[in-house]
Formats: sequence, structure tokens, C-alpha cells
Amino acid sequence: MEIGEIKTIKISDLAYGGDGVGKSSDGRAIFIPLTAPGDLVKAKITKIKKSYAFGELIEILKKGEARIDAPCPVYYDCGGCQLQHISYSKELELKKENIEELISRIGEIKDFKVNEAIFGVDDFRYRNKAQFPLEVDKENKITAGFYKRGSHEVVPYHDCLIQHPLINRILKTTLKELNKFKISVYDEKSHSGLLRHLVIRVGVCTNQALLVFVTNGSYFAEKEIIAENLLKKIPELKGVVQNINQKRTNVIFGEENKVIRGRSYIREYINKIAYNISVRSFFQVNTLVAGKLYEQIKTYLGQSGKDTIIDAFSGTGSIALYLADKAKKIYAVESLSSAVKDGRENAVLNGIKNIEFIEGLVEEELDSIVKKDIIDTIIFDPPRKGLDKKTIKLLKKVKIKKIIYISCNPATQARDLKSLKSHYNLIEVQPVDLFPQTYHIESAALLKLK
Ligand SMILES: C[S@@+](CC[C@H](N)C(=O)[O-])C[C@H]1O[C@@H](n2cnc3c(N)ncnc32)[C@H](O)[C@@H]1O
Repeated sequence: MEIGEIKTIKISDLAYGGDGVGKSSDGRAIFIPLTAPGDLVKAKITKIKKSYAFGELIEILKKGEARIDAPCPVYYDCGGCQLQHISYSKELELKKENIEELISRIGEIKDFKVNEAIFGVDDFRYRNKAQFPLEVDKENKITAGFYKRGSHEVVPYHDCLIQHPLINRILKTTLKELNKFKISVYDEKSHSGLLRHLVIRVGVCTNQALLVFVTNGSYFAEKEIIAENLLKKIPELKGVVQNINQKRTNVIFGEENKVIRGRSYIREYINKIAYNISVRSFFQVNTLVAGKLYEQIKTYLGQSGKDTIIDAFSGTGSIALYLADKAKKIYAVESLSSAVKDGRENAVLNGIKNIEFIEGLVEEELDSIVKKDIIDTIIFDPPRKGLDKKTIKLLKKVKIKKIIYISCNPATQARDLKSLKSHYNLIEVQPVDLFPQTYHIESAALLKLK
């Protein structure tokens, strides 16, 4: 096999990450983006490794049964979605298979059960948060979109099909207002220019919205007038905030927020629980399906109402608040101070008194919690990198009866399940599709002490 060689490949599977996978005549697996199981394709080999290779789709010779026409006009350029060319029912099936494959290959676990994925009513227009990189177009106007697959080139588009419609309306109006002035856009190569990102959050159940200008520096002369105009034009907008990020980094937010107009949070609901969510705090991007995920966690927790629980990586305390009436006490551990503050305020807002919010790192705080209290269940909802070694070691030592491990990265979850399998049985795994049209999937695993 050679780089640049054109090969005819039958696609048999979908890899976690969204690439279709076929086999070459020499037995290597070939990963080809934008292909679907069942497709017969012509692909150009772009990278070769010992046991696998990567290819670029050149032509679809025969469409597989799962293939559909992607509804978004910029889908094949934009890197935001990976699975719009596959029917949603097949997408759910493939995501379940991805989790099964990762648990058996990386987790090295044999007998386990993965349920059919839980999903929502809307597989489009579901996202409650968008982070738009900006660019100057050929007409010298500021435009926004998403990064092209595998690059930092912006694909301009203002009607993203997976965003909530209010987000797209705010984006269009904001660009119009910005373009009334001469405002510079940040260039990451030269680290110059002012406007880096627009971040828009909406409350799907409240129709409230928050707009954040992420800027490289604090001086933004036109911000007051722009914010004033936007609040007049968009009644749903509850606040316009400036976030200052002067670092050379891919991380979107900087540390400092300045409220330009209105307030710095929106209200959202998951079933009966009210959440105030501020600029940087984590909140699940699919509010309605997050409600289904939290119901599943409640089912895993059981009905006793007497358990003492740790909600590790608690964000704004969303899971802890949701479970509060089913627990004796909950320790919620989170490192981001604004999220902890949101959590404490949200507990007051909902009249909840049995959650202790702890600001700190999970790997450092767990030890002192388990020394002072007997924990019945621990819930983990870590970022994509999963659990650290110190936490795994502690779990093996303290022997908590039940672990509910929520993950947005089933590959690192599978790695952690492998580390825990000497002490815990994997009872079942519930995929929850919080991210339709993308390769991402939430995976909720129930583990019980052996
Ligand atoms: C996937 S989010 C989960 C949030 C929450 N459980 C929810 O459902 O909204 C992960 C959270 O972990 C926090 N975090 C990341 N690393 C951490 C650490 N080492 N210790 C504590 N919190 C951490 C992040 O700030 C983020 O809020």
C-alpha cells in the first residue's frame, strides 16, 4: 500500500470517532471519514500505519443502506458533525456498538450488557450552547461558523442545524451589529486582533439567552452600544458579557468576565429543578436528553432515599440537585469556582439543604470525604480524559458499594472500567445520545462492589 494510492473499499463498520472502516487486501483496517457501513467506495490512502491506514473518500460506488443525504449544506466541509450522512436510527445502533467494542477491546471485559440507546425527540436543533470562532470574509465583514474538519479554518455558516434556533437568530443579529463598526478579529497566528469567539447559551425550557464576546484584551470601545442594541432587538437576551482571554491557547474562555449589560447567567430547568448557569459553568448541551440521563442515574441509585452520595465532577451541581430528594446527603466536588458558586446558589433556589459543595480537585478531595463519612454510592462524571490513577487507587481501597460512572468519552471510560474490574462488577451500561449527528455519545455505567 502506498500514500496516494486509490483503492476500492467495502465499508463494514463505524469506528468511535465517526470514520467508516473497511479492510484492504493486505488485512489493514482503513479508516475513511464520511463513509457509512455498507458503502462501496473509492478512497485515496492518506496515512499508513503498521496495522491500519487512513483514506479520503473519492467516490461512492454503491451506497450502503444506512446512508442518507446529509441535510446541512456545509456538512461535508464543516467539522462540527460527523454522522449526518447516516440515518438516525442506524446512528443510535452504531453508537451502541461503539460502546460494546470499546468495553470489550480496551476494557477487556467479557460478559456485560449494553442497553439500547436512550434518545430525545429532536435529533436536530437540540444544542443549548454554541462557541463560534470568527473570521473576516472576502467583503471585509466579520463572519462566524465552525472549524473545517481537522483544521482551524472557519466554515462560515449561520444556520447550524444542530443548534437551537434562538442561537442562530442571536448569531445573525450580533454579526449585523458588529459589522456596523470596524472591529478587528483575532488572528491566532499573529496573536493580534480583538474578537476571538462568540459564545451563546440558551435555556431551552425558559427561552432565556446569554451572549459572550471573548476578546483578546479588555479595551472594546463599541461594546456598550452593541450590547444595548442587541438587548433591544432580542428580547430573550438576558445579558451580554465580555470574557477576556489574552493567552495563546485553544481554550476558549479566559479567567475574567465583565458584564456589559444585563446579567451573567441564564435560567434553565431539567424537569422540576431550576438551574442558574453562568458564563463558564459546565451544563449538558442537550437539556431535554440530559433529563433522561438524570432519570437513569436516579434508577441506578435506587429508591431508598437513605444513601450518602458523592457527586464527583459536579459542575453546577446538576446531578446532585436532581438526586437530592433521593439521598440523605450528597457531597458535590467540582474544581471550577464559578460552577461551585452556581451550585450553591442553585441549591438555595430549589430549597435543597442536603448537598455540601466542595471546591477542589476530585483526586484531592475524595480522600478526606471518605475518611469522615460512609459513602454508599459515588457518581463520576469526569471530563473526556476520565479518572486519574489516584482516584482509581482510592476506590479499590475504600470499597464503596456502588459506582455510577457517567462518561462523554467511552474510550477512557472503558480504560477505567478495566482498572476497576478486579474490585467491581460491571452490571450494565446505558448509552444516552446527548449529541445526535456527531460521533459523541454519553455512556452511563453501573458498577457494584464484588
Ligand atoms: C463533564 S462535566 C460534568 C458536570 C456535571 N456533572 C453535569 O452533569 O452538569 C465535568 C466537570 O468536571 C470539572 N472538573 C474537571 N476536572 C476536575 C477535577 N480534577 N476535579 C474536580 N472537578 C473537575 C469541570 O469543571 C466540569 O464542570
